[in-house]
Amino acid sequence: RGDRAVTQDLAGRHVVVTAGGTREPLDPVRYLGNRSSGRQGYALARAAAARGARVTLVAGNTELPDPAGVDVLPVGTARQLREAVLKVAADADAVVMAAAVADFRPAVYTTGKIKKIDGVEPEPITLVRNPDILAELSADRLRPGQVVVGFAAETDDVLANGRAKLARKGCDLLVVNEVGEDKAFGSAENEAVVLAADGTETPVPYGPKEALAETVWDLVVPRLAGPRG
Ligand code: CTP
Ligand code: CA
Repeated sequence: RGDRAVTQDLAGRHVVVTAGGTREPLDPVRYLGNRSSGRQGYALARAAAARGARVTLVAGNTELPDPAGVDVLPVGTARQLREAVLKVAADADAVVMAAAVADFRPAVYTTGKIKKIDGVEPEPITLVRNPDILAELSADRLRPGQVVVGFAAETDDVLANGRAKLARKGCDLLVVNEVGEDKAFGSAENEAVVLAADGTETPVPYGPKEALAETVWDLVVPRLAGPRG
């Protein structure tokens, strides 16, 4: 695999990775969604499996093939993603929240298709907040010493936004991407800085999502609590 030997430094560990994006239904045919492809999360899952981990991948609305040897749990909405993660992360050594979770969902789900009516203006869509799964995992730590990793796509003052978000979420590591034309969403390449709660900052040069995945696990491994399992 590239320029390095596969070390089994995640052997005996269980890791949970979320990938893709949630979709929040408005009616039976429409949803509020986002552009996450799931590629970064899938790369993280594949990399962890190659390093010996038992991997559970909670996948929101992706169209990617299941990685070999990985347990894949498909979910639709943020609330479904939360339920799935809370269940499978109870015995996890690390949880990596690479999924793009919708911050808001339509307050009301209309059970029949919303129809247009001649001469009638549409109703505004009222949104309500979804639970913040990363903040909850970081605050509650389902298992002592569990390592919690978040992702953040930022524009403008990327690093300052990232540092503030790391503190606000309370996670151990935050992977900060600058969102731009060919960066992050839908592309195979990524550039990032990984911020750690201990203040260290690890720049990851523009490159394949696989390389960023390896860097994330490189930073997770020394933070894992022993014993394994
Ligand atoms: N996240 C989450 N639950 C949410 C929203 C986000 O667990 N309801 C997680 C994402 O999976 C990601 C991290 O939080 O790992 C950061 O997501 P981001 O959207 O950048 O952060 P927000 O706190 O939602 O801030 P913003 O207002 O910038 O969207
Ligand atoms: Ca958000």
